[in-house]
Amino acid sequence: SQLHAFLHALPKCEHHLHLEGCLSPTLLFALSAKNNIPIPSDPSYASIATLTERYNNFSNLNDFLAFYYRALDVVVSVDDFEMLGWEYFTIANRDGVKHAEVFFDPQSHTSRGVSLETVVSGFDRACKRAEKELGITSKLIMCFLRHLPVQEARVTMDEAVKGGYFDGEESVISALGLDSSEVGFRPEIFQEMYVEAEKRGIRRTAHAGEEGDPTYISGALDGLHAERIDHGIRLIEDADLMDRVIKEGIMLTVCPLSNVCLQVVQHVGQLPIRKFLEAGVKFSLNSDDPAYFGGYILNNYCAVQDAFDLSIAEWKTIVENSIQGSWCDQARKDELL
Ligand code: ADE
Ligand code: ZN
Repeated sequence: SQLHAFLHALPKCEHHLHLEGCLSPTLLFALSAKNNIPIPSDPSYASIATLTERYNNFSNLNDFLAFYYRALDVVVSVDDFEMLGWEYFTIANRDGVKHAEVFFDPQSHTSRGVSLETVVSGFDRACKRAEKELGITSKLIMCFLRHLPVQEARVTMDEAVKGGYFDGEESVISALGLDSSEVGFRPEIFQEMYVEAEKRGIRRTAHAGEEGDPTYISGALDGLHAERIDHGIRLIEDADLMDRVIKEGIMLTVCPLSNVCLQVVQHVGQLPIRKFLEAGVKFSLNSDDPAYFGGYILNNYCAVQDAFDLSIAEWKTIVENSIQGSWCDQARKDELL
């Protein structure tokens, strides 16, 4: 695309990336063979090619999530989690990512009998290796699955605290997130855990306003004291809430290719990117689940450029906001700016 080399060279920060969303059909088949765990018998899984084709045809968030959770059966050992994390960091490095704040979904593993310790150890190894070998700094964000009973989130949080992973910004898990099926599972349900996270000095974000209406965004701000909003594109439907988000400097973590793949919009040009820029809504651009949505972060930057033909000054605004909206310390921000 136009400006491709310029976009590649920008010092990118990623804030909306599910490590489990980096499990490509190729890696799924490789782990299935390595661990001797069968691939589902459903015809979609007949080959890497048929599965890739199915991934190109999601009808909505829940249709995608069924494939996302199902694929995880093949990921079991610390080494597997490290491999999945490393898959992300190597490709992110190729795309020019310098700092990444990445999600993981412990309940999608503990429900299969994989311990929280296995999951956290593997992902933490990948993060440490990324810093050492690639110079990429990172943070882990533990997400609750909002379609499951709140009691299971409680148990997950207690386990993270007991394991010593979850006490202040410098702990192995430095932030809390909320993901999975949005509509019908309001953010406020998880208020108790978010209040506790805030007391513990843990950063807070939540998926809101992807498929859900703008009241899910205000619910995440008021009920959870979320410091960022993941997706948040339906903010454009509520002018008063948009003014508040601008005033409070809340950053949205927008995922353009994801929104097209999950049919939240029909094409990237329908996203309110230009409206957000003109109004002063801060946002970063991210890949969400790159193994499923046809591209990592640079593809998302390029898709936005192809759709909106932004100026170099506008790109500088996006990149500066994504550095300033990161949860790394000021010294790291200064290096990236
Ligand atoms: N889990 C992984 N990707 C997600 C998304 N885009 N929205 C909600 N939950 C998710
Ligand atoms: Zn997401």
